Amino acid sequence: MTISDVAAASTPISQRIPSTRHYAMTPPAHFAVEYAINPWMDTSTAVDVERALRQWNTLRQTYLDLGHTVDLVEPVAGLPDMVYAANGGLIVNGVAIVARFKFPQRDGESSAYAEWMTAMGHTPRYTKHLNEGQGDLLAVGGILLAGTGFRTDEGAHAEIAQLTGLQVVTLHLVDPRFYHLDTALAVLDGTTIAYYPPAFTEASRAQLAQLFPDAIEVGSADAYALGLNVVSDGKHVVLPAAATGFAEQLRQAGFDPIGVDLSELLKGGGSVKCCTLEVHP
Ligand code: ARG
Repeated sequence: MTISDVAAASTPISQRIPSTRHYAMTPPAHFAVEYAINPWMDTSTAVDVERALRQWNTLRQTYLDLGHTVDLVEPVAGLPDMVYAANGGLIVNGVAIVARFKFPQRDGESSAYAEWMTAMGHTPRYTKHLNEGQGDLLAVGGILLAGTGFRTDEGAHAEIAQLTGLQVVTLHLVDPRFYHLDTALAVLDGTTIAYYPPAFTEASRAQLAQLFPDAIEVGSADAYALGLNVVSDGKHVVLPAAATGFAEQLRQAGFDPIGVDLSELLKGGGSVKCCTLEVHP
């Protein structure tokens, strides 16, 4: 599939069809806000680990109820952000790429996720440049949308294109609140995305509008609830419960929104998608 194929094919609204997915999640057993590496994090905020675990379990159960597979990754003490499994890497086209984190506080997660990949039968691959896995690398219809500006280096985009054999579209993020691509853009199916335009440069917005003429543009209230941090199976869209405006837009577009409260994990600057690493076939 090439970039122009993605733009040409769009799914009729009446035909939203779910497909069974394979996810990996890491329980927030050691969750904390001990450092602040994004504007959502405030080290003076108290964190309730029991509540985080309950909310996380509801998310996991939601996927299981939808018929998806959820693998569990063993959490490691001293790595409070490990619950944000999306950042651990990218598995697509049979290639498993391990994250190279920007901040030293998250360094240790790379080996934990590499071990998990190895246990799954993959050979973990590494990039020379920084890459924060599916936080910034989103597969859609046989191509990859790749964010840069805060975490993942643009240099990693080329390395990842090489490693996966997929075409990569570089998108520039400009607002520190939306520091990972998955906080500003949601993949809903192979041809449909939703995004928050102010999070991108003018040029990236133009590129998105051209590639995805049916894209849903999300307003500030939903974006600031991390409403775009969703997981979709092509029909059911699991999203932060507070993003009620976006939920309505999804309904209008023929999707089935399922709100989940992850307010405890929002304290670390993440929500539904951040907690979910999709293993693409
Ligand atoms: N505290 C984590 C960080 O700043 C949150 C990561 C959220 N993950 C995501 N996929 N956006 O790195």
